[in-house]
Amino acid sequence: MATKSKFQAIRGTRDLLPPETALWNHVDQTAHAVFGTFGFGEIRPPIFEETELFGSAIGAETDIISKEMFSWPEGGTSVESELPKVWMLKHLGEFETANREYVFENRQQLDLVVRQSDQTLVVEFKRRTINQATIDDIRQYRRSFSERFPEQKPPKLLLVFAEEPSEFVRKLAAANEAEIEVLHVPGYETRESVSLRPEATASVCRAYIEHGMQQLPQPVKLYYMGPMFRRERPQKGRYRQFYQIGAEVLGGNDAPAIDAEVIEMVMTFFDRVGLSGVELNINSIGHNAPDCRPAYVQKLKAALELVKDKLGADSQRRIETNPLRVLDSKLDHEQAIIATLPRIADHLCAECAAHYAAVKRQLELRGVFFKENWRLVRGLDYYMRTTFEITAKGIDSQNAVCGGGRYDGLVELLGGPPTKGIGFAIGEDRLILSLQESGKGAAPQGRDVYIAWMGEHAYAAAVHAAKDLRNAGFSVELPPTELKFGKALERADKLGSRYALILGDNEVSEGSWTLKTLAEGTQQKFTEPELLEFLKSAKASEPRS
Ligand code: HAM
Repeated sequence: MATKSKFQAIRGTRDLLPPETALWNHVDQTAHAVFGTFGFGEIRPPIFEETELFGSAIGAETDIISKEMFSWPEGGTSVESELPKVWMLKHLGEFETANREYVFENRQQLDLVVRQSDQTLVVEFKRRTINQATIDDIRQYRRSFSERFPEQKPPKLLLVFAEEPSEFVRKLAAANEAEIEVLHVPGYETRESVSLRPEATASVCRAYIEHGMQQLPQPVKLYYMGPMFRRERPQKGRYRQFYQIGAEVLGGNDAPAIDAEVIEMVMTFFDRVGLSGVELNINSIGHNAPDCRPAYVQKLKAALELVKDKLGADSQRRIETNPLRVLDSKLDHEQAIIATLPRIADHLCAECAAHYAAVKRQLELRGVFFKENWRLVRGLDYYMRTTFEITAKGIDSQNAVCGGGRYDGLVELLGGPPTKGIGFAIGEDRLILSLQESGKGAAPQGRDVYIAWMGEHAYAAAVHAAKDLRNAGFSVELPPTELKFGKALERADKLGSRYALILGDNEVSEGSWTLKTLAEGTQQKFTEPELLEFLKSAKASEPRS
């Protein structure tokens, strides 16, 4: 029985233990093998990166970025102590408190807040490039701040520059005086915000650019596996540290065959690990040209405005921030309303419609069954055209085991050349849950041979035998202290050992070793070389697991 210990794993994280880890390893190995046959190579990006990388890629308004990041400031000079001093000198007299760390949802943009005596908050806003999009962000930020803290005045955003700010910035600040103040602090170096990765697509794109992978034969096909981190409300199948196995195809063209092959690969993998009840849902969400998704979003928005009163608070908010996400709603009472909304398939531009039709044909050619789901929009901003999600049996509401799609603009958005991209990530925790619930869990890890030894000479022989057997690939348990044979055989049984090798001083001096087959209770005598041969041929004739 587990006892309550002083330290426990943090909520939303957990220990993966044997024998379950054997199943995890099997799943990992299958991914290495299957992805290898499709020509993918493994990439292992770091577990934390600049927060801005994730913010730019996934989108500031998404739940992942606005609510779920694990972030902290890193490097740079201690802004917390320097900046308030500079500020104080400038605003002598008006200043009340400084150096108060202020934790707001979006730490990407917020690391320091100082408070003036009139209760105006001043917030350092960290951006390297200041342009109209930054100003729009600032406005959006002030709005959400005011919603969250209605009793406070909206904050003034402080843009801090080490270099003399450009004319553009000065003019911008002057024109938006109530919202923005520019401060020039020579030598000022902002502390970078870094975050645990909530997903790995952004990291893979960063690596593609950083290592000049556009010089390699295109497309570059990469896969990864490892932990991801999102501050979500934990429940079965949803964790704060969870594991993904993902793959990305970067560069080359956007031939629909690539979309279909990536999907075929993940379906092959699911088939190989024996996942049951697998259902593939696909959709196309068009692209960003005025005659495609933006036009549809306008229509959708207009339709949503008409039914706004009947929608829940989340969906109402999303009409403004991200109307497509309303289609994702799981609320019962919204389903009938959503069913009447305009559908993107009817509003795709000619090129996106043709691409989507070709992806479907390519899937059929590969014998991949799919279901079209016009409501499949996905929760990350970088997608365009093909999106897909795969569900499986036995994991209740959190039944998406894989999500993916095409993201052609992403590498460029992150500062690289125009590059096509498509990929997916499998939720490994959910995959394992589903495998376990359909009875494909790992068998407890037994031992091939338990060496029951008694006596000093027998111990020396046992140590050597253990070494030889392990070198030959058998799992061996060698008790570190002497046990009576009866006790040793009991232990061997409890550990699920197949054989017990019985070594007493007599057996050793006679050179005749006794091997007991535990399940049958039979025993045979062997010389040492015979024993190894016997075990090898017994193993070779076992059915493969
Ligand atoms: P995603 O849909 O956010 O996509 O995550 C992919 C999968 O990760 C989900 O379908 C789910 O199985 C699993 N997952 C997500 N959050 C959790 C959690 N808190 N606990 C357990 N499992 C979770 C992405 O991450 C994209 N990067 C996929 C992609 C790659 N798109 C293109 N390339």
